[in-house]
Amino acid sequence: MRILIAYGSKYGSTAEVVNELTSVLEGKGHDVETVDLKRPYKGPLDGFDMVVVGSPVIAGNWLRGPKNFLKQRADELKRLRLAVFHCGSRPYFEKEGEQAYDRRYGDDILAEYGLESSHIAYLGGVFDFQRYSLVIRKLLTKMGVARTLEENGFDPTGPCDLRDWDAIRAWADEIVWDVRTSE
Ligand SMILES: Cc1cc2nc3c(=O)[nH]c(=O)nc-3n(C[C@H](O)[C@H](O)[C@H](O)COP(=O)(O)O)c2cc1C
Repeated sequence: MRILIAYGSKYGSTAEVVNELTSVLEGKGHDVETVDLKRPYKGPLDGFDMVVVGSPVIAGNWLRGPKNFLKQRADELKRLRLAVFHCGSRPYFEKEGEQAYDRRYGDDILAEYGLESSHIAYLGGVFDFQRYSLVIRKLLTKMGVARTLEENGFDPTGPCDLRDWDAIRAWADEIVWDVRTSE
C-alpha cells in the first residue's frame, strides 16, 4: 500500500512519532512518504491508498499546517482511507468533566471539514522546558504544567516523554491490519 504521512511538529516530538510509524509500516512492506506541513503540501494525493495526518495539540489547537491540509484537501481525502493522530499532554492534564481528547481533537476536527475516519488516535507528547522560550516556560509554569509533571513522577528539568511507544507501534499495525502486502 502507498501511504502518505502528512504532519506538523513544532518542537520535533511528533516528527519522531512519524519516524516510528514509518518504520513499522515500511517493515510491513508498505511504501511510505512523509511530508512536514510546515509548508503546504501541493502534491497529488490520488496515488496514495491511505493518508495519515498528525499534529501536536498546542494551546488547545492543532497546528495550522495540518489543519489547513485537512481543510484544503478535504474533497480528495474523502475518497481515501484516512487515519488521524494527535500528540499532546494527556492523560496527565485532562480535567474531570472535560470532553475527551479523542473526540475534541479527532472527530470534531474532521467533522469541521466533512471528513470521517475510523482510525483516530492520541499518541502522547513531550514537554522539554529547556527548549522553550522564557515566555513559554513562564506560561507553562503558571499553568502548573511543571508541578503536574512532577506529581506524576517526571523531572521537568529535563525532557518529559509522555509518549507510549508500544501504543504508537500498535496503532501503526491497526491502521493497516486488514491490508495484505506482497511481503
Ligand atoms: C506552549 C505549549 C502549549 C501546549 N498546549 C497543549 C494543549 O493545549 N493540549 C495538549 O494536549 N498538549 C499541549 N502541549 C503539549 C504538546 O502537545 C507536546 O509538547 C507535543 O509533544 C508537542 O509536539 P511537537 O514536539 O511535535 O511540537 C503544549 C505544549 C506547549 C509547549
